[in-house]
Amino acid sequence: MTRHPVWDPFIRLFHWSLVGLFAANALFTDDESTLHEWVGYAAVALIAARLIWGLIGPRHARFADFLPSPRAALQQLQDIATGRHRVHLGHTPLGALMILNLLATILLIGATGYMMTTNAFWGVGWVEETHEVLVSWAEISIVAHIAAVIWESIRTGVNLPRAMVSGVKSVPDDATIVE
Ligand code: HEM
Ligand code: HEM
Repeated sequence: MTRHPVWDPFIRLFHWSLVGLFAANALFTDDESTLHEWVGYAAVALIAARLIWGLIGPRHARFADFLPSPRAALQQLQDIATGRHRVHLGHTPLGALMILNLLATILLIGATGYMMTTNAFWGVGWVEETHEVLVSWAEISIVAHIAAVIWESIRTGVNLPRAMVSGVKSVPDDATIVE
């Protein structure tokens, strides 16, 4: 096993706070309460901070480190199909697509949520429906995200959820590391 510090404290705090805020609004808060609105805005503010961190943060936090790449995504699918053991120290190419999807979807949920509080869009059906459809899409994405994290942890032998807590990826010696 080799140990690689990859996730800085901000990324970890960001991740688990976003999980808490999203879950709170999707499952627990009364959707007509001001609490629901503030929890939603907090999630949006957190993502705004993450976007800045993606430009100025340490290497693996930067968007430039995990830009979407169809070629790299196909290679990862090939790794899965052929049982090749390659471990990405930062986000994997497929993981990157999911991350961008989740960040964009939650921002749009916040935007449609805000619209519902304005005079112009209050009570407008399609805005409310879009808010709900986006929440459902985020929920489907999160189920896939968690399944993929578990799948990739088993396949590569790297405990990814633990790395998102400790910041450190422990990589088995037989894996090829992709910086
Ligand atoms: C509301 C639910 C969730 C949301 C919205 C969410 C969102 C995200 C986002 C935005 C990232 C990118 C982190 C960054 O670079 O800033 C990420 C990565 C990650 N998430 Fe989640 N997540 C959720 C639930 C979970 C859960 C329950 C787990 C644990 C099983 C988990 C494990 C991970 C891991 C391990 C990564 C890093 C993947 C990698 O190594 O590339 N997530 N998640
Ligand atoms: C993480 C972000 C958010 C999540 C997960 C979320 C989730 C939800 C869910 C599950 C519903 C219930 C939909 C239904 O009735 O089936 C809802 C409704 C609603 N949300 Fe959000 N929301 C978020 C952010 C916001 C924000 C930022 C605002 C406003 C500032 C907002 C305003 C509303 C309003 C006004 C409704 C009520 C629609 C109605 O039934 O009349 N939401 N939201």
